[in-house]
Amino acid sequence: MKRITIIGTGYVGLVSGAGISNFGHQVRCVDIDKQKIDLLNDGSIPIYEPELKTLIARSVNAKRLTFSVAVEDAIKWAEVIFIAVGTPQGENGEADISAVIAVAERIGINLNNYKVICTKSTIPIGTGQMIQKIIDQHNHDKIKYDYCSNPEFLREGAAVRDFLHPDRIVLGTTSDKAFEYLKDVYRPLYINETPMVHTTVETAEMIKYAANAFLAIKISYINEVANLCDEIGADVHVVAKTLGTDGRISPKFLHPGPGFGGSCFPKDTKALVEIAKKYNIDMATVTAAIETNIFQRKRMLNKLNDLLDNDLKGKIIAVLGLAFKQETDDVRESPAIEIITGIHDKGGIIKAYDPIANDSMKEIFPALDFKSSWYEAVEGSDAAVIMTEWNEFRSMDLEKLKNLMSQPVVLDTRNILNVSELKRLDFKFDNVGHRVA
Ligand code: UDX
Repeated sequence: MKRITIIGTGYVGLVSGAGISNFGHQVRCVDIDKQKIDLLNDGSIPIYEPELKTLIARSVNAKRLTFSVAVEDAIKWAEVIFIAVGTPQGENGEADISAVIAVAERIGINLNNYKVICTKSTIPIGTGQMIQKIIDQHNHDKIKYDYCSNPEFLREGAAVRDFLHPDRIVLGTTSDKAFEYLKDVYRPLYINETPMVHTTVETAEMIKYAANAFLAIKISYINEVANLCDEIGADVHVVAKTLGTDGRISPKFLHPGPGFGGSCFPKDTKALVEIAKKYNIDMATVTAAIETNIFQRKRMLNKLNDLLDNDLKGKIIAVLGLAFKQETDDVRESPAIEIITGIHDKGGIIKAYDPIANDSMKEIFPALDFKSSWYEAVEGSDAAVIMTEWNEFRSMDLEKLKNLMSQPVVLDTRNILNVSELKRLDFKFDNVGHRVA
């Protein structure tokens, strides 16, 4: 059993805290945001993430997990510290690591005995060395510590499952002792033979960016294939499914759509291109994936425009789904933001609905007309646009949809509606490379 402090209670910090305390360790999750900590101590969680509330409650009840703003105490108390603060996109596409730097300073000042200090936040490759320098500058008593990089690969909406059943654990360490400490942290996974990749800090940092950029490229690629399918009358579902049967390709992350969003892919692809520029390396494929993603979002608006005969002015449009993907309330870089702005700019009237993310989107568009069900949103509308692949849209009663709308026009940017059904009911519709199915 180890004493573990996790600094930062965002997605990564909170899920890691819940997961590691469930492995049996004593965990303190700390944050400078008092409001968030108060919320957590009241038994609420600041994000929507399936299974997280239950997992947290289990550890809190077993007295293995606490939340507090006492960052300095928690640093002194810990044997292992995980840095999990946010690294949002800064100016020029680079990641803003100011929160990580502030945490490194505080750790340096409060070092009181040997600790393993491990970064989970996604930071530009090479930042690990900078963090160590900052800690050293403040570590006046030269207390021994080891620095590590332990990138997290969890997906929002499936974060708990991803944490408890990861494909691999990446541990970039500066000593064998630190590796032993981290192996102990992840002991239940180690025993279950989850692959543990023991490598250098720089390689671990690189793996995270390389993984995210590769997946982003894969999505942009299938989006381009889908766009061509649209034009030549092919079905991208059959194409993607067949590509996936080739073990070298795999069927995952080959779903075409309105373009990737969220807190990772858009930010990390741009950051990788910027890091590479500093070393005079042109990441042409990653740059292309970013450009394709921008184009893909515009293409969705063009499709809607075409469906409504290039006249959105005064048209009532139901935007169904606001989160960047299903099972999350996160709207960061959500393709829905672009479509809402686009419809608005062309004079359309929007009725918006998301089963979970209405409140998050309200922060971006406070004056938008939010509805509390898809029925309400589509009633009397001239078109419906599905932006997120929520299950409740997958199982939509299309006959009911048609009856509620003032005209049966649908844009399905996630390819979740049954095309034969749409045709049978005489919908005017479009999707992404799947019209002929
Ligand atoms: C991602 C990575 O998967 C995770 O490993 C990393 O640590 C953080 O970033 P996340 O952003 O939560 O996770 O969601 P993910 O499920 O990967 O989806 C990202 C975006 O790609 C979403 O907008 C999603 O809709 C889109 N996507 C995903 C597609 O358009 N097609 C696909 O086939 C898969």
